[in-house]
Amino acid sequence: MTVRIIDLLRQKPEGQEVVVKGWVRTKRGNKNVAFIALNDGSTINNIQVVVDMAAADEALLKDVTTGSCLAVTGLLVESVGSGQPVEVQARNIEIYGKADATYPLQKKGHSMEFLREIAYLRPRTNTFGAVFRIRHAMAYAIHKFFNDKGFYYWHTPLITASDCEGAGAMFNVTTFDLNNVPKTEEGKVDYSQDFFARQTSLTVSGQLEGELGALSLGQIYTFGPTFRAENSNTPRHLAEFWMIEPEMAFYDLEDNMALAEEFIKYCVQYALDNCMDDLTFLNNMFDKELIERLRGVVECEFVRLDYTEGIRILSESGRKFEFPCTWGCDLQSEHERYLVEEYFKKPVILINYPKEIKSFYMKQNEDGKTVRAMDVLFPKIGEIIGGSEREADFDKLNTIIEERGMSKETLWWYLDTRRWGSAPHSGFGLGFERLLLFVTGMANIRDVIPFPRTPKNAEY
Ligand code: 4AD
Ligand code: MG
Repeated sequence: MTVRIIDLLRQKPEGQEVVVKGWVRTKRGNKNVAFIALNDGSTINNIQVVVDMAAADEALLKDVTTGSCLAVTGLLVESVGSGQPVEVQARNIEIYGKADATYPLQKKGHSMEFLREIAYLRPRTNTFGAVFRIRHAMAYAIHKFFNDKGFYYWHTPLITASDCEGAGAMFNVTTFDLNNVPKTEEGKVDYSQDFFARQTSLTVSGQLEGELGALSLGQIYTFGPTFRAENSNTPRHLAEFWMIEPEMAFYDLEDNMALAEEFIKYCVQYALDNCMDDLTFLNNMFDKELIERLRGVVECEFVRLDYTEGIRILSESGRKFEFPCTWGCDLQSEHERYLVEEYFKKPVILINYPKEIKSFYMKQNEDGKTVRAMDVLFPKIGEIIGGSEREADFDKLNTIIEERGMSKETLWWYLDTRRWGSAPHSGFGLGFERLLLFVTGMANIRDVIPFPRTPKNAEY
């Protein structure tokens, strides 16, 4: 039976026979002995395979090169060398797949840009193995957090006719032959002939349908891919990213903030408790303050700050920002980072934004100018969560939909939830890859998702 390396490294070495399979990271040695570092992806750590050259098949060993895949049968013994507790004394080696010198991941430091170009191979590196194991652990932690709190995992559609964020940054979904699109008599696209008999897109957010879940099951969360056709070439934007969107009946903005803070801290603590090998590797290789920063977030209390107060702090900072910032403007990442990294030195939840710069569904404040929005701002990342209390009043929601010229033909069902049995409710969206940027310390969002989708890039 094949044993995974993570389990093998925990076994007591008593000379027992083991079968271990994996990819060769390095091979070194001399005419008497060869040392093969084997990794199977189960852990950042390799198992050292020791080959006695006197008994070895030299021709076969020539094909044991970096990147080749092996099955090794041998004895598990205590390691005499430093750096590992146990090693395998090889009795038999079978080569599953050779890797000649053209294999791109030879042992040398590769740039992240180069590794992005070979995204189909990069999970075989230490760095990406660590990142993607952490990605899995965070996904599991998220489900566990909500399940333990009595939330239901609620599946919202990926194909939709409504534009939740009203930003118009949606990818069309159609089965039309684009070289021969049916037209109406007025010369417009005749969507009545399309697959869904209407114009449809990939969703930018599951929130609107999430609200339907909250207004029936009480507390739900979504966790799925979302799509944004914005031409944002930044280290923090993807065209396809995963979002977690909890939505809760009977939560006001205060409750919403408390949940967001507890949720993020839970995820970060989960990584500290369960991913220490990988975090230590990333900490040592890329970001010497990573683990300290993670601990800092778990231990501190997030600041709660009014947008208006935030603008005052920014304008009195004496700092020259690239984009000057006055009341009414949307904060740029430089402003968010100033507040978080320099002024407060901890995460900030900014609330009560001007209504003009926020989405139509947010609850309007009495002042007539602001809405009960909240953005959670994080060191290094900027906005990691966006959310709000929702407008529960039919008339107010109806008016704003009209004012913004949004389509009631596609939003009628959303309005109906305010017509019958409306309830105060709130929710937010956490960008999964933004969370991963924070937890792994990676600098570019393209490096925390296996196959990034960005403008002009959809390889694999
Ligand atoms: O602030 P956003 O646009 O909010 C919503 O979509 C709401 N419907 C969420 C809700 O209240 N249920 O997006 C939420 C989060 C952002 O804070 C950010 O972390 C992430 O999603 N995000 C992106 N992540 C990667 N690439 C992009 N292009 C992103 N756009 C937003
Ligand atoms: Mg936002």
